[in-house]
Amino acid sequence: MAEATWNRHHIISLADFTLAEYETVLQTATSFLEVLSRRTKKVPTLQGQVVTHLFFEPSTRTRSSFELAAKRLSADTLNFAPGTSSLTKGETILDTAKTYLAMGTDLMVIRHQQAGVPLAIAQEMDRLGSGVGVFNAGDGQHEHPSQALLDLFTICTSLSPDYPQISALKGKKIAIVGDILHSRVARSNLWSLTACGADVHLAAPPTLLPKQFSASFAAPLAEQSKAISTQIKTHWKIEPAVQDADFVMTLRLQKERMTRYLLPSLREYHQQFGITRDRLALCKPDVKVLHPGPVNRGVEISSDLMDDPALSLIPKQVANGVAVRMALLYLMGTSRN
Ligand code: NCD
Repeated sequence: MAEATWNRHHIISLADFTLAEYETVLQTATSFLEVLSRRTKKVPTLQGQVVTHLFFEPSTRTRSSFELAAKRLSADTLNFAPGTSSLTKGETILDTAKTYLAMGTDLMVIRHQQAGVPLAIAQEMDRLGSGVGVFNAGDGQHEHPSQALLDLFTICTSLSPDYPQISALKGKKIAIVGDILHSRVARSNLWSLTACGADVHLAAPPTLLPKQFSASFAAPLAEQSKAISTQIKTHWKIEPAVQDADFVMTLRLQKERMTRYLLPSLREYHQQFGITRDRLALCKPDVKVLHPGPVNRGVEISSDLMDDPALSLIPKQVANGVAVRMALLYLMGTSRN
């Protein structure tokens, strides 16, 4: 594996990711996808390093994917389950992180239901001069960078399997449909997809896609780029969003984050915003569907579509997630040395 130039110390948000960084992640993940196709799917890159997974919120694929990625790179891994940890005895999150630091952690992967926790831990690690690199594996409604990077990789490999490049995304219409308000996946994807030149359309009921959403989202980048405000189009009906779309990304209704009754019923939501074969007929003929999972079958997407390999990239997203997270751990783990 060639040494890539990588200066980022933590991956908390994609808001300030550069095109060169996106390209480096794609190229590095492509190499690791090849490693994962070998009989022996393991390389010694992170031998002797400790990767600690601090998941304060439930997760199936992100936690297992990060853990498998670390193991494929020969790192030692530590896992933490909040319910059986000293958090139940009143230990703070920062003290928990510092405990794992004292055990020799090199990289920390953090998920928390509250936005800002991975950043707070990263700042504390820096203050202590620890050299530990922190990954945000999902913080509240804020961001989920590794999910958006694996989505980017999946879209780019679907456009060009042997040599995925971000330039392939330019002008491609991508519809993101569903619970955008509560989605950290959507927020991270908005940074990456718009930065790479995609034509991004959002569709959701008004309660899940406030009018000011894209404008307020654009504000932090306004000085760097006008791209976000000009490229994100919002719709309160699904049809104009999916019309001629190249990719449709559908999102779970995040009931655990809904504080009020935001929808009449799941049945009505499916009728108005569910991804079905009829709706896909409006898209480009070779349209592909993505979903970060977990899926509520029959709510945001019809069950048969999910299992149709001609249309659904969902299993590919999960498989690619391991290669992309290997790339991220590799880039952060080797640049620290
Ligand atoms: C997402 C998450 O947890 O943010 N899932 C994931 O990590 N693949 C999306 C969700 O919970 O709906």
